Amino acid sequence: MPKNFDVVVIGGGPGGYIAAIRAAQLGLNTACIDEWKNAKGGPAPGGTCTNVGCIPSKALLQSSEHFEHAGHAFADHGIDLSGLKIDVAKMLSRKDHVVKQNNEGILYLFKKNKVSFFHGRGSFAAAGEEGYEIAVDGDKPEKLLATHVIVATGSTARALPGADFDEERILSNDGALRIAAVPKTLGVIGSGVIGLEMGSVWRRLGAQVSVLEALPTFLGAVDEQIAKEAFKVFTKQGLQIQLGAKISQVKTGKKGVTVHYTDAGGAECKLECERLIVSIGRVPNTVGLNAQGVGLKLDERGFVAVDDDCRSNLSNVWAVGDVVRGPMLAHKAEEEGVAVAERIAGQHGHVDFNTVPWVIYTSPEIAWVGATEQQLKAEGRAYRAGTFPFMANGRARALGDTTGMVKMLADATTDEVLGMHVIGPMASELIAEGVMAMAFKASSEDIARICHAHPSLSEATKEAALAVDKRTLNF
Ligand code: FAD
Ligand code: NAI
Repeated sequence: MPKNFDVVVIGGGPGGYIAAIRAAQLGLNTACIDEWKNAKGGPAPGGTCTNVGCIPSKALLQSSEHFEHAGHAFADHGIDLSGLKIDVAKMLSRKDHVVKQNNEGILYLFKKNKVSFFHGRGSFAAAGEEGYEIAVDGDKPEKLLATHVIVATGSTARALPGADFDEERILSNDGALRIAAVPKTLGVIGSGVIGLEMGSVWRRLGAQVSVLEALPTFLGAVDEQIAKEAFKVFTKQGLQIQLGAKISQVKTGKKGVTVHYTDAGGAECKLECERLIVSIGRVPNTVGLNAQGVGLKLDERGFVAVDDDCRSNLSNVWAVGDVVRGPMLAHKAEEEGVAVAERIAGQHGHVDFNTVPWVIYTSPEIAWVGATEQQLKAEGRAYRAGTFPFMANGRARALGDTTGMVKMLADATTDEVLGMHVIGPMASELIAEGVMAMAFKASSEDIARICHAHPSLSEATKEAALAVDKRTLNF
C-alpha cells in the first residue's frame, strides 16, 4: 500500500526543502524525496546549493580570502607574518564540515516540521484519480501517493561538446571545489559567476588563472559601469581574462589539458593548463523523473514548462527552482517554493522577480537588483543616476578596502528606485537595502533621508541616493 501525502516534493535543494517545510507549516501532510549521497552513502539534503554550490564555494572563498589578506593586506595593519602557507587538505576538510553541518541542519528541520524524508530517486509511476503515484528508488524502495507534487530537481553543469567532465582534469563546479593541491596553471572556460568565484579562489592560493570567455563583453548582465570596474580590478589582481574566445578543441593528457581556440582577432591560440574548469552555464535536471510517462511538459530547452505561478501542464503538479525558467539562484528557488506551498494551501503566494538580487562573491563583491543603466536606456526610460565611491567612505578606509562604488538609479519623474548596483566590500549585505527600497517602491529621496549608522559601508548607499539629486555630502 502506498503511503498517502497531501504534498510530495521531489528534490531537497533550496527550492524543494523550503517548499516542504512551508507546506508542513501550513498543516499539509508532506514528504520530501532527495537522492544526494554523502561520502558514506547517507542522505545529504540541500541539493547543489549545499553540496557543490553556494555553501562550499563560499567556504573556500572565505579561506582563500583570509590567505590573501594574511599575505598581502595584514602588513599594512602592522601585522607581520612570515612563512605563510596554505594547508589545502585542511581547507577542503573545513569546507566539507560546513557542508555536513548544513546537511544535518536540513534533516533536523524536516524532523522539527514533521516532513517525512525519503532518501532515493523519486519518479512519477502513475497518475490516477486519487493523485500521483511516486516511486522512491533508494536503499528502501517505497511507493507514495500524492495529491500535489512539487518538482524541484534542480540543475547540473553544462559540458562543452567533446570535453566531458572527468573531475580530474576537466572540472565542473563539483571538481573545482575539491582540487587537492593548488595547480600551477588553471584554465577556466566561461567568465560567468562560477568562473569568477572559483577562478578567484585558486588564484588567491597561487594558481596562474586564465579565463576564456566566448562573448565580446564582460559580465553582460551587469551594469556596464560596474562591469568595467570589475574587469579592471580582476585583471589587476592577476586573473587573465580573454574575451571573444572561440573554443575549437579540448585535449587531455597526462600532465594536463590543452585548449585550442581562436581569439577575438581571429588568431589560432592554445592554452595549456594543469586543470580546466568548465563553467558555461547549467542545464535543468529531469533525468529519471519519468516526466514523459505522465505527460509532464518540458520546454524546448528541457525546463519543466510552468506558468507565472509555477503550475505545470498537469493539474496539481508544480515545479520550482533551477528546473524552471528564471535565474538559477538559491533564493529565487526558495521564494518559489514558499509561494507554491502557500498556493496549495489556498493562500496567495507571490514572487516578485523584479526584486531578486544577484551577488558575485568575488573580492570586491558585486551585487545588484533591478534595472541596469543600459536596460533603462534601451527602454527609453528617463532616469537619474547617483554614484558614490567607497574611497570617500570612512569605514571602507578604516577597513583598508576602498575599491568600488554604490550606484543608484531612480525614475527621473517619480524618483522611484529602479536599480541599485554595488561593487565593493560587503556588497552582498548592502544590496538588501536596495531590495527593500524597491519592494516598498521607495524613492531615492526616502533612502537619502534615512539615518544610516556612522561609520558604516551603508553610508555609501545613502550618499549614492543623495548623488541622484547631485547633493552628496562627503564627495
Ligand atoms: P538543486 O539545489 O540543484 O537541488 C535539487 C536536488 O534534487 C538535488 O539534491 C538533486 O540530487 C535532487 N534530485 C534531482 N532529481 C531527483 C529525483 N528524481 N529524485 C530525488 N532527488 C532528485 N545561488 C545563489 O543564490 N547564491 C550562490 O552563492 C550560489 N552559488 C553557487 C555556486 C556554485 C558553484 C553553483 C553550481 C551554484 C550556485 N548557486 C548559487 C546556484 C544555486 O546552487 C541553485 O540556484 C540552487 O541550488 C537551485 O536550487 P534547486 O532546489 O532548484 O535545485
Ligand atoms: P553563467 O551563465 O554565469 O556564465 C557562463 C559564461 O560562460 C557566460 O559568460 C557565457 O557567455 C560563457 N560561455 C558559454 N559558452 C561558452 C563557450 N563555449 N566558451 C566560452 N565561454 C562560454 O554560468 P556559470 O558560471 O556556469 O554558473 C551557472 C549559474 O549558477 C549562474 O548563472 C548562477 O545562476 C548560478 N551561480 C550563482 C552564484 C551566485 O549567486 N553567487 C555563484 C555560482 C553560480
